[in-house]
Amino acid sequence: MENQMPKEIGIDHSIGLLKEGYHFILNRSEKFQSNVFETRILGRKAICMLGEEAAQIFYDPKKFQRKDAAPNRIVQTLFGKNSVQTLDDEEHRNRKEMLMSVMTQEHLNHLMELTQMQWEQSLDKWSRMDKVVFYEEVKELLCNVAFKWIGYPLHESDAQKMTKELASMFETAAAIGPNHWVGRTFRNMGEKTIHQLIQDTRDGKIKFPQNTVLHQFAFHKDSQGKLLDIETVTVEVINMLRPIVAISIYINFSLLALIEFPEEKEKLQSFNDYSKMFVQEVRRFYPFFPFVAAKVRSDFTWNGYEFKEGTLTLLDLYGTNHDPTKWEDPEKFNPERFTHWQGSPFSFIPQGGGDYYLGHRCAGEQITIDVMKISLDYLVNRMEFTVPEQDLSFEIDDIPSIPKSKIILENIARSRSH
Ligand code: HEM
Repeated sequence: MENQMPKEIGIDHSIGLLKEGYHFILNRSEKFQSNVFETRILGRKAICMLGEEAAQIFYDPKKFQRKDAAPNRIVQTLFGKNSVQTLDDEEHRNRKEMLMSVMTQEHLNHLMELTQMQWEQSLDKWSRMDKVVFYEEVKELLCNVAFKWIGYPLHESDAQKMTKELASMFETAAAIGPNHWVGRTFRNMGEKTIHQLIQDTRDGKIKFPQNTVLHQFAFHKDSQGKLLDIETVTVEVINMLRPIVAISIYINFSLLALIEFPEEKEKLQSFNDYSKMFVQEVRRFYPFFPFVAAKVRSDFTWNGYEFKEGTLTLLDLYGTNHDPTKWEDPEKFNPERFTHWQGSPFSFIPQGGGDYYLGHRCAGEQITIDVMKISLDYLVNRMEFTVPEQDLSFEIDDIPSIPKSKIILENIARSRSH
C-alpha cells in the first residue's frame, strides 16, 4: 500500500538550507514526525532522509546511484570531475580498490609516524611564538604530513600555498557567490601542481618508490587494463591530500571539547581506552559533513512511500548521529556512550555508512581516527598552553562550521611531565 510522503510546501527551500545548515533535515523531520519527507532545494524536488533504517536503504546500490547526483558546485570545488564519489558499480569498485590499497596497516603506520614527527616540529615552532591560531597551524601541519605520505615532501616555501589551495576546496564547498569562485580557482591551481607531478612520474622524470601513494595511483589500471587518465589520477590524489588537511576541523573540535568540558582531560589522562571513545564522540557530536546526495536508480517503494527514478535524495549524516530515537541525550557531549556501543554501520555515520569497498563509505575513516588520537595525545599530555579570552562559538548554519576565533592559544610549551 502506498502512503503520501510528508511534503514541505513552497517553490524552493535552498534559503532554509543556508539558514538552518546542519539542522535543516533534523528540524523538518521533527516537524513532520517522519524520518523521510519531500522538499524542493536547488530548484528541484528532493527527498530527505534521516536515521539508521533510512541509511540502510540509501546505501543499497540497487536503489540509489551517485552518477549525476552531486550538485555541480560541489564537484567543482570539493570532489573534482570524474572522482570516485560520482561513480557506480564496476567503475566505482575498481577506483575504490585503488584508494583502499593505500589504507593497509603499513601505510597507516607510516602516516602515524609522519604525523607524530610533524607535531614535534610544530610544537618547537609554536613554543617560540607569542600566540598561535590553532586551526590555521594544524591545517599546515597536516598538509605537510599529507604530502610526505603520498611520497612528495613539500618544500617549506610551498606549504602555505598548498595548504590554502587544499583547505579552500572544503572550506568553500557549500559557498555561493564570490567564495564559490575562490574555491574553484584554488582547485584549479591545486590540480595544476598535482597534474604536473603525475605527468613527471609517468615520464620517469621523478622516481618514487613503488609503495608510495603517488606511484601506486600513477600506474593504477582501470577495469579494462588501461592506465587512468592523468586528470582522474590528479583528482584521486587530491582525494587523499584534501581530506587529510580537513582533519584539522575535527582536531579543532577536539580542542574545543577539552576547553568546554575540562573534566574530560582528567579522564583522558587516567584511562587508556578513553581517547578512542572521546574521538568517536567528537565525530558524532560536532558538525562537519552535513549530508550525502544520491539519485533514485529506479522506482521502488519503501515503508509505503514511493521513490521515483531520478529523484535527488539526501541522507542526513549529522541528523542520524543526533537521532533522538537512537542516541540517548544526543545533545550532550558524552564519550562514555561509546563504552559498550553496539551500533551498526548505518547508525553512527559521520563519514558515511555501509561498506568501504562495496559502497561509498569514507576511504579515510581509519586515518581520521588515528590522526585525531595522536593529536589528542599532544593536546592532553604533551603540551601546555593557555586559552585567552575569545569567541569560541560556532554557527550551526556555517558549513563547515569552525569556532569563530579559530582557537587562539598562548604560552605554548612542552609538557613538563613528558
Ligand atoms: C576529515 C574528516 C573526514 C570526514 C568528515 C569525511 C567524510 C566523508 C564522507 C561523508 C564521505 C561520503 C560518504 C558517502 O558518499 O556516502 C566521504 C567519502 C570519502 N572520503 Fe572522507 N572524510 C574525512 C576524512 C577523509 C580522509 C582522511 C580521506 C583520505 C585520506 C578521505 C577520503 C575519502 C574518499 C576517497 C571518499 C569517497 C569514497 C567513495 O565515494 O567511495 N576522507 N568522506
